Amino acid sequence: GKGAALVTAWASRLADQTRQIAETLAEFRLTQEQLLEVKRRMLTEIQNGLSKKTQSTATVKMLPTYVRSTPDGTENGDFLALDLGGTNFRVLLVKIRSGKRRTVEMHNKIYAIPIEVMQGTGEELFDHIVACISDFLDYMGMKNARLPLGFTFSFPCRQTSLDAGILVTWTKGFKATDCEGEDVVNLLREGIKRREEFDLDVVAVVNDTVGTMMTCAYEEPTCEVGLIAGTGSNACYMEEMRNIETVDGDEGRMCVNMEWGAFGDSGCLDDMRTQYDRAVDDLSLNPGKQRYEKMCSGMYLGEIVRNILIDLTKRGFLFRGQISETLKTRGIFETKFLSQIESDRLALLQVRSILQHLGLDSTCDDSIIVKEVCGAVSRRAAQLCGAGMAAVVDKIRENRGLDHLDITVGVDGTLYKLHPHFSPIMHQTVKELAPKCNVNFLLSEDGSGKGAALITAVGCRLREQEQK
Ligand code: GLC
Repeated sequence: GKGAALVTAWASRLADQTRQIAETLAEFRLTQEQLLEVKRRMLTEIQNGLSKKTQSTATVKMLPTYVRSTPDGTENGDFLALDLGGTNFRVLLVKIRSGKRRTVEMHNKIYAIPIEVMQGTGEELFDHIVACISDFLDYMGMKNARLPLGFTFSFPCRQTSLDAGILVTWTKGFKATDCEGEDVVNLLREGIKRREEFDLDVVAVVNDTVGTMMTCAYEEPTCEVGLIAGTGSNACYMEEMRNIETVDGDEGRMCVNMEWGAFGDSGCLDDMRTQYDRAVDDLSLNPGKQRYEKMCSGMYLGEIVRNILIDLTKRGFLFRGQISETLKTRGIFETKFLSQIESDRLALLQVRSILQHLGLDSTCDDSIIVKEVCGAVSRRAAQLCGAGMAAVVDKIRENRGLDHLDITVGVDGTLYKLHPHFSPIMHQTVKELAPKCNVNFLLSEDGSGKGAALITAVGCRLREQEQK
C-alpha cells in the first residue's frame, strides 16, 4: 500500500545519500600505484632542488643547513633557545653536560603571539619576541649573562652559514611584513639592540626538523632524518656533500632542510587534489603555495574537513541541510579535536558532544558521517606523508649503495603525537613503499629546544677552533 511505497522511497533516498557520501570520500582514497607515483615525483623534485641547474626554480628547495654532523656527546654549556613557528612560541634555557653522565636540563616558558603580531610588521614581531626573551631572562634571573642562543625558526631560510638565514617566504599562519628576503638573525639582533636592555650571542638559526633530528641523534646515532608532522609538514636528512651542488666541497655530509611542504607547487600533485583542497588553498594566506603541506598538516586538515562538511550540508546530507555560523568559521577543527573525534575509544555520543562543544548540533547519523570524513582526510594525509618519507629513505639507501638500509627518523609535531591513526598509517605506508629500508621512528622529546641548543654548542666549538 501507500505506507510500503513511502518506506521504499525513503530507503532508496537513504541508499542514494550513502552512495553519494561514499563517492565524495572516495576522492580521498589513493591507490598503492598513486602513492608510488607520489614517491617518484618527490624524488624528482628532490633532484631538482639539489642540482645547480634546476635549483633556482625548484619547488622542493633542499636548503643546506651547515649542520655537518650529528652530536657526539661532547656538547657542553648553558644555552638559550627560541622556538618560533610551531603551535607555541617558547623561550628556553638548556643546560647540557657532557662526560660519563650526559644530561640535558631544560627550563621553558610559553608565550602567546597574537595574530595581529604574526601578521603585522616585522619590527613589531621581533620587538615582541625580544620582549618575551626579556621576560624570560628576568624570570630566570639571567639578564647579565650574554648566553649563546640558538634560534629555531621553522620557516624556509636560505643559509650561507650556521648563523645566517634569509627568509625565503613565510608559511603557515605568519605574514609579517619586511621579513622575506631578510636575514632573520639580523632582524633578531636589531630587535635586541632596539631594546637596549641585554645582549645575546646568536650562534645558530635552526629549522625545527633539524632540531628534531639532532635531539634524536643525541640518543640514537643512526638518526639521520628529521620529520615534523604538526602545524606544518617538513623533513630534513643527512645528504652527501657531493650531491649538494649549491654548496662547495664534496667531502662528508650536510643536513638538508627539504621544505617538502612546497611539493606540488609546480602542479605535479594536481591530479590528486580535490575541490576541497583547492578551496582550502584559495582561502589561505598563501594561495598556490605549500600544496603538499596543505594536504598533510594539522593547520589545514581541519579546514579540508570543514569544507567537505559544508558541501555535504549544502547537498542536504548533514545537519538537516542547515549551514550554521559555526560551520562557516575558519579554523574550528583544530588537530586536537580531529584527534578526539577519531579516537576509537570514543562512543558516538561523545563525538556528538565534541561537535556540540564546537557549536555544531548533530544527530547520531551526522556524527557517524563526520567521523568518516575526518578518517578519510587524515588517512590520506598520513599516506602522503609516508610516500614522501619513503622517497627520502630510499634516496639515502641509494646514496650509500646499499641493498638494505637500517635508519632512524626523529619525529615531532602535534599531528604525529596526538592523532590516533596518523602515525600507524604513515609507518605502514613507508614500509610498503620502501621495502628495502627498515625505518625506526623515534619520538623527539622537545627537538626545537634541545636540538637548537645542541647545534649551538657545536657552533660555539667550531668558532673556538677557528679562532685558535
Ligand atoms: C613549514 C615550514 C618549515 C617547517 C614546517 C614544520 O613547512 O616552512 O620550515 O619545518 O612548517 O614546522
